[in-house]
Amino acid sequence: MTIEEIAKLMVTKGKGILAADESTGTMGKRLKSVNIESNEKNRLHFRETLFTSDSMKTSISGVILYDETIRQTSSKGVLIPELIKKSGSIPGIKVDKGAKLLAGSDDEKITEGLDGLRERMEEYYKLGARFAKWRAVYSIASKNPSEQCIKANAHALARYAAIVQEAKMVPIVEPEVLMDGGHTIDRCYEVTSKVLIECFNELKINNVNLKGIVLKPNMILPGANYKQKASTEEIASKTLDCLKKTMPKDVPGVAFLSGGQSEIEATKNLNEINKINDTNFNFTFSYGRALQQSALKTWAKSMKDLKSIQKVFDHRAKMNGASTEAKWEEKNEQNFAA
Ligand code: 13P
Repeated sequence: MTIEEIAKLMVTKGKGILAADESTGTMGKRLKSVNIESNEKNRLHFRETLFTSDSMKTSISGVILYDETIRQTSSKGVLIPELIKKSGSIPGIKVDKGAKLLAGSDDEKITEGLDGLRERMEEYYKLGARFAKWRAVYSIASKNPSEQCIKANAHALARYAAIVQEAKMVPIVEPEVLMDGGHTIDRCYEVTSKVLIECFNELKINNVNLKGIVLKPNMILPGANYKQKASTEEIASKTLDCLKKTMPKDVPGVAFLSGGQSEIEATKNLNEINKINDTNFNFTFSYGRALQQSALKTWAKSMKDLKSIQKVFDHRAKMNGASTEAKWEEKNEQNFAA
């Protein structure tokens, strides 16, 4: 398959991406929040339970894995990337090495991981990965994100994307403007626009084929500490407007991150975006927390009750799948904890 074909499949209607690529540190925090010890066996057990769920076939186009997971074998002796492929989904891999302090800036972050990336991509391809992910983070404060932070991260994202395409894989380009803070929704719009414009500028300079990427942005939201929540309609129209003005036509689509939204909010907002979508772009999900939160809580209650865990995960995946086609309805959420 060409990278253009893979990118199209990743944003296909009715399906989305499961971001199960939490680093060992982040996964440790997630497991701690439900009082489970974070060790290799437990991390695999939870992830394997999700990867063998029914909704993998119907609602999940791809799974982003972490380095530890892509090398693991399931309890039935199947390599994890094989298991994902067998369910009709595409294995992907997180390749950045995390956001580190950006020297010369005021507490901002730069994502690292370019050194040796070409060699690592070769190995990941052999292990079965067909797409990759790199996340840049930007905080909103009175003077931030600075031009330095916006430029440095866009440059790194573009160099990553070029290396990934050279290895015949699709780069997920993830510039995440964080929800933390007390800013307005319009400030999020303004910052996200600047960030996206600079990313596409660098992608062009680095000769990245835009038909072979997937953009993973934040939705346009007010800061988590802002005094008022925004309506679903406002979030959807501002998100769509921002992307229409910044995204070149060649990009096949967008797979949003959930970024701290609740499960239902993330589904509802995506559904609304698809309701008003008047573009040729496909809008889908690449959720971590908003796909796994309820399943994680269910797992922590009874780790052996695989059926219950899978039922909860299948529900969330199907609800999000429906929202990619603007077919989600609130009444279908009844009887499921969020
Ligand atoms: P969330 O959906 O939890 O924001 O995670 C998505 C992701 O992959 C972050 O890099």
